[in-house]
Amino acid sequence: MIENLEKEALAEVMLAADLAALEVVRVKYVGRGDGLINSLTRVIKEQPADKRAEFGARVNQAKLNVEAAITAKAATFGKVEQAKTLAASAVDVTLPGREPARGSLHPLTLVTDEIIDVFARMGFGVETGPEVESDFYNFEALNFPDDHPARDMQDTFFAADPADGKPARVAHPNNPDKWVPALLRTHTSPVQIRTMLRKKKPPVRIIVPGAVYRNDSDQTHSPMFHQVEGLMVEDGISFADLKGVLAEFARAMFGAKAGIRLRPSFFPFVEPGAEVDVSCFLCTEQSRSGCRVCKGSGWLEILGAGMVHPEVFRHCGFDPERTQGFAFGLGVERVAMLRYRVPDIRLFFENDLRFLRQFA
Ligand code: DAH
Repeated sequence: MIENLEKEALAEVMLAADLAALEVVRVKYVGRGDGLINSLTRVIKEQPADKRAEFGARVNQAKLNVEAAITAKAATFGKVEQAKTLAASAVDVTLPGREPARGSLHPLTLVTDEIIDVFARMGFGVETGPEVESDFYNFEALNFPDDHPARDMQDTFFAADPADGKPARVAHPNNPDKWVPALLRTHTSPVQIRTMLRKKKPPVRIIVPGAVYRNDSDQTHSPMFHQVEGLMVEDGISFADLKGVLAEFARAMFGAKAGIRLRPSFFPFVEPGAEVDVSCFLCTEQSRSGCRVCKGSGWLEILGAGMVHPEVFRHCGFDPERTQGFAFGLGVERVAMLRYRVPDIRLFFENDLRFLRQFA
């Protein structure tokens, strides 16, 4: 009887199709109390005295055998389940990889870096300054007197005090009783002043890349744009050095055949002052007859320049009688538009990837 029960139990264990079916078999045969094999332990004492020990041992052995079979069977289900979950979550190594979106340098950064390289080769170091600037550095020290009409050339954004919305003012560096407007710098020229005041004496040979702001917006003007300022103040520096440096810049930027042309112009912080044109790189090759880029003139205007005004030196504590130097300022967007033939300045600031990817 015990042997038959054990055989039946083992057969059912073998046939169990899953863990649930196996549990049914376990309860039926070796379940605590009512399991068919377990309940035989209750009839041990009904056996003849000389058979009891043997009967008991056989019941126990049958129970152990069935339990062992159940454990072994359950382990095989475990493996199957594990394999199933593994298959469901497995990494498919044959799929093509997902490429992360890769950034690239903005065209204005590329052009700025190139300009810095050209001047670095001529010994210029890089300086920077604040974009929220004092009227003193942006205008006064650059020889724009209060209410001088030259200030109208640069349509200025003035800063407001966040506390009350009124125009923000900062202390005048040379006069603690005077407060002057805080503004968004309209050019990178104020860094000339900051650098000369810090160095206290020549030599100074710097360029200043950076963002500047003017209340102006159309196809060729953006309220925020970029300039590179240059300043060279050393013993014996003359207008010829200015021409030489700018001619070298034009060749490095626009090709070995590029030339420059200077036209007299006015900026309060230089005397004499000039606007500087570079020969049009598109039509120079054939003739100076002109094309669409240079609007038929054969020349492209990219810079302002001149010899530093004595009044500027005076503001910086440099002796105007004994100091000479030149300065220039160029528009980065203008150079980039000419170099890459970009027809609208706003393209630089719209963050349209179809535009930006062309420079990657
Ligand atoms: N700061 C001038 C502007 O933004 C450009 C300029 C002209 C800078 C002549 C100079 C210079 O240093 O000498 O219009």
